[in-house]
Amino acid sequence: MSDPRPIGIFDSGVGGLTVVSEIGKLLPREEIIYFGDTARVPYGTKSKETVTKFSVENIEFLMEHDVKMVVVACNTASSLSLNFLKRCFRVPVIGVIEPGAKSAASVTRNNRIGVIGTHATISSGAYEKAVKKISSELRVFSQSCPLFVPLVEEGWLGEKVTLEVASIYLGSLKRKRIDTLILGCTHYPLLKDVIRKVMGGSIVLIDSARSVAEETQGVLDANGLLNSSRGKRRHRFFVSDEPDRFIKLGMRFLKRRIECVRRAA
Ligand code: DGL
Repeated sequence: MSDPRPIGIFDSGVGGLTVVSEIGKLLPREEIIYFGDTARVPYGTKSKETVTKFSVENIEFLMEHDVKMVVVACNTASSLSLNFLKRCFRVPVIGVIEPGAKSAASVTRNNRIGVIGTHATISSGAYEKAVKKISSELRVFSQSCPLFVPLVEEGWLGEKVTLEVASIYLGSLKRKRIDTLILGCTHYPLLKDVIRKVMGGSIVLIDSARSVAEETQGVLDANGLLNSSRGKRRHRFFVSDEPDRFIKLGMRFLKRRIECVRRAA
């Protein structure tokens, strides 16, 4: 059996392109429809009710393009709304929390894991719950880092101010002697160098994009939804605001130029 329908992916903006990149590498025969909700970003400061409402609308948009599954690439939406979204739609819906928690649990050696994310992600406790579900022996220490998203979007990845902000946010986690740190926000993988500088070179940084791609493959396989045909495939990108900024910022996340970005009607 082969299912040529596309995979739907959404994020509050550009950050989910890191997930597009990993899925593209692991599943080169799959087509992707991406939706970035650039008109309503950021989600990280909003309530569960609002983020859930936006997420439902985003998936409805993807469903109009006949997607066979949905990946919620946004950590905030995954933390606040995933359980509800799974119940609302007839296609499989996966998020980024469980894959990230699993990766962290498999690499920690001292059972002390840190999590950083937006205000909403951290106060939801979603990563903590997912890690504890794997083993109650694991200890989780969390910290929200709200200024990281605007710093990344400004392109200030290695500036002095970024290092200072990182030192303030991460100081308390460093004292907790964690050996593994989950980058629980789409934007944080771009700050890996600065985070390593503050936390020390031996810290293992978990960027869940690769694990999400593996989970996507597993879900497609289990449901007989993989595409085995060799035809030419073209990813399509939609945004809810004008595409220019998305195209410019997106290059930083995808590490290549994005073609074919359209404003959703
Ligand atoms: N995509 C969001 C996340 O991963 C970060 C940006 C936002 O606050 O919307 O949590």
